[in-house]
Amino acid sequence: MPQDEQQQKPQQTPPFQTAKGVHDILPNDHEYHTFIKKVVRHRCRQAGFRRITTPIFEYTDVFKRSIGDTSDIVSKEMYTFEDRKGRSLTLRPEGTAGVVRSYIQHGMNSWPQPVELYYIDPFFRYDRPQKGRYRQFWQFGLEIIGESDPALDAQIIYIANRILDDLGIADIFTLQLNSIGSSEDRTEYMQALKDFYFGKERSLCADCRSRLEKNPLRLLDCKEEDCKILAQLAPKLVDYLSKESLEYHDELKEYLEEMGIEYTENPTLVRGLDYYTKTVFEFWDKTDGAQNAIGGGGRYDGLIELMGGKPTPACGFAAGIERIIANMKRQKIRVPQKDDLHVFVAQLGKEAKKMCLPLINDLRENGIKTMGALGKGAIKAQLRLADKFKVPYTVIIGITEVREGTAIIRDMSVGTQKTVKFEDVVEEIIDLIGDENRDMYSPGEAIY
Ligand code: HAM
Repeated sequence: MPQDEQQQKPQQTPPFQTAKGVHDILPNDHEYHTFIKKVVRHRCRQAGFRRITTPIFEYTDVFKRSIGDTSDIVSKEMYTFEDRKGRSLTLRPEGTAGVVRSYIQHGMNSWPQPVELYYIDPFFRYDRPQKGRYRQFWQFGLEIIGESDPALDAQIIYIANRILDDLGIADIFTLQLNSIGSSEDRTEYMQALKDFYFGKERSLCADCRSRLEKNPLRLLDCKEEDCKILAQLAPKLVDYLSKESLEYHDELKEYLEEMGIEYTENPTLVRGLDYYTKTVFEFWDKTDGAQNAIGGGGRYDGLIELMGGKPTPACGFAAGIERIIANMKRQKIRVPQKDDLHVFVAQLGKEAKKMCLPLINDLRENGIKTMGALGKGAIKAQLRLADKFKVPYTVIIGITEVREGTAIIRDMSVGTQKTVKFEDVVEEIIDLIGDENRDMYSPGEAIY
């Protein structure tokens, strides 16, 4: 090839890909998302929770103050940036901090207490991407703010468990339960931990060595083998809990037993966010344990005050939706395919198209999910397309049908067809699809 021709060849750039650690939610997975949202909404509504959506980004201090400066999330995993005026903002890595900020900002303490809120939203963490760990992921979460009673912790756990059960995956998880006491209980315990680890620093992983001074509690749930062995030998938090914390925990366990919820006492469960007090819990995969917790939560009685509100107790829970979907698929659980079409409308010629357009609208208005082949392809090609969309019925309007005011309805599974009067098409199709399968538009009655 002559040299100047070579130079003129446009440079091949590789096609764009999603950024590392994030992914598209393609239509098939959306069916799972929709199903999960419906279950969550249903169970939350039943229990009196109302939906809240906080902004995708907040002032960075909202997360620093609540989740804790030394937590992995704040120290390593936040997407933080400055706006044009130099204010530090952060993409929300979790939901509780924003909800608490909102509770205080909107004076929700004057609402009937406790305030029960839920959310279904995307969150962002600069995590190391791997199976079940992404940089943008979805959570649903529940928060009860304004009252302290072990019966409320039990309620949160019950609803979380109920939702997992509705989704068909409750059986593959165990509920891990612990109490980390009040912050006063923990002051003495943290000193005991520091004393225990004194002189053993060299056996710890680099992360734990740096956590030892700032947040020794986190040493208990390190996944490194040597750290795990030491954690087993370390002083037990339960020996430092106050009488009140112990009684609270016992009462919670009584309520769980009363509701038939199985749990495993896990004295080293501490959670990765600093705001918890007393109850902490996680749902662990029975096969790989903590690696792939599907959700977790607990009580956070000090957080509202820490964030500038009046002292107000609270508790909550959140679960990861991608992990839920992966587990539903692992269990071979299929969800209703709400996007599947009922009818394909094929036509030939401009006059036929004129008849088809209002017919397509009419079918849709009647809850029949309809797709029209409105291009210029031959009827045969349109039928092949209908096959690919796996529709049960195709309506065909060709030149003869236009002339005679009729339409052909073809049963795609057996290949039989019949001719009906054009004005009867909608009724015929409704009969074939079945009233109960129609997808009617029903957002509820608005008052205009
Ligand atoms: P968390 O344990 O940090 O708690 O997150 C809850 C769940 O979100 C995890 O169990 C996991 O399923 C999912 N998740 C977390 N990070 C990722 C990731 N990088 N990729 C995919 N899924 C992920 C909280 O966020 C607390 N706000 C829960 C809470 C609510 N506590 C009280 N109220």
